[in-house]
Amino acid sequence: MATKKPGFTTRQVHAGVVPDPVTGAILTPIYQTTTYVQESVDRYLAKGYSYSRSANPTVRALENKLTDLEGGTDTICFGTGMAAINGLYLAYLNAGDHAIVSDVVYGGTYRLSTKVYSRFGVEFSFVDTSDAANVRKAVRRNTKLILTETPANPTLKLTDLRAVSDVAREHGILHAVDNTFLTPYYQRPLELGADLVIHSTTKYFDGHNATVGGAIVVSSEEQAKSIRFIMNAGGMIMSPQVAFLTLQGCKTLSVRMERQAANALAIAKFLEGHPQVTWVAYPGLPSFPQHELARRQASGFGAMLSFEVKGGVAAGKALMDRIRLWTLAENLGSVESLITHPVTMTHADVEPAERQRIGLTDGLVRLSVGLEDADDLIAALRDALDG
Ligand SMILES: Cc1ncc(COP(=O)(O)O)c(C=O)c1O
Repeated sequence: MATKKPGFTTRQVHAGVVPDPVTGAILTPIYQTTTYVQESVDRYLAKGYSYSRSANPTVRALENKLTDLEGGTDTICFGTGMAAINGLYLAYLNAGDHAIVSDVVYGGTYRLSTKVYSRFGVEFSFVDTSDAANVRKAVRRNTKLILTETPANPTLKLTDLRAVSDVAREHGILHAVDNTFLTPYYQRPLELGADLVIHSTTKYFDGHNATVGGAIVVSSEEQAKSIRFIMNAGGMIMSPQVAFLTLQGCKTLSVRMERQAANALAIAKFLEGHPQVTWVAYPGLPSFPQHELARRQASGFGAMLSFEVKGGVAAGKALMDRIRLWTLAENLGSVESLITHPVTMTHADVEPAERQRIGLTDGLVRLSVGLEDADDLIAALRDALDG
């Protein structure tokens, strides 16, 4: 009798890990070692491990878990989410190549593209990927990569992953998706036709503000080989301690996501009704312009939202100075609720004209909704908004 594939929550606990074969320890140990003893010149004692820049068993356990959760072929972990994006670029972009990137992306992705890779003769077009027709129009003879982020940081704009994947496939271009905001619990880009998935594991996989890490989930052995080569050549590793903590975070991912998303919806509804708030962007609100797309391509709406306070920058800053319970900090996805002013914090490197063009307004406030009681989070926002 064929057995049914276990559900996501079962797999997030068990996939990729086995009790330690030496001691029976239930948690995969932190393999704190530089090198691995060889039996002879051409034989390793433990299969596959030679030196911890190339591979490490604790990191490998996390890679196997992420591969299972995203439904990929393999995963390569990196020292941070930005190292993963750097690894993607190094693997697929050469001087003279062109890449299409979502116009609303994490500020660090924009910075890496415009301030680093442009120095090496790689061209970028920042395109409104919410309409696949824009992507089609932006394709050039030398386009090698499309990188989309959805929901995008910080305006939550969505990309239709199936439509953009179709354009990519038609032109023989790779489509990589930054799935940091929704995680595979709510959105699985490979099932929608994408080729590669990027994660900042710093965010929801860790979930506890404990680490920085990144990963690329691939859909072919060939991609795994190219990206692992770059990771090893560039020494862009994740440490075993980070992998260990991230493995523990993964085990509660779906439970945290559901509770944090429920909190986010309650907060979005509250903000929408507050007289001091001009607009609220949360894909779970019927008023969100791409609400239907959110329902179609994801099984949940996540726990990130942004809103604009009446009174612009001054009002936004005053709100953040006044608010209690919410922590003013960069980062997102953790159990602690965080509040951010993207224009001066996460997206400070995006030029003012570009910010204007993509709707990243000066008064925009971004919330990463945590695991506290929704009533407490709403009461703190109400007090701060009411002044
Ligand atoms: C969507 C997204 N991708 C990538 C990154 C970069 O990840 P890291 O900070 O782990 O380098 C971030 C960081 O905020 C992010 O929000």
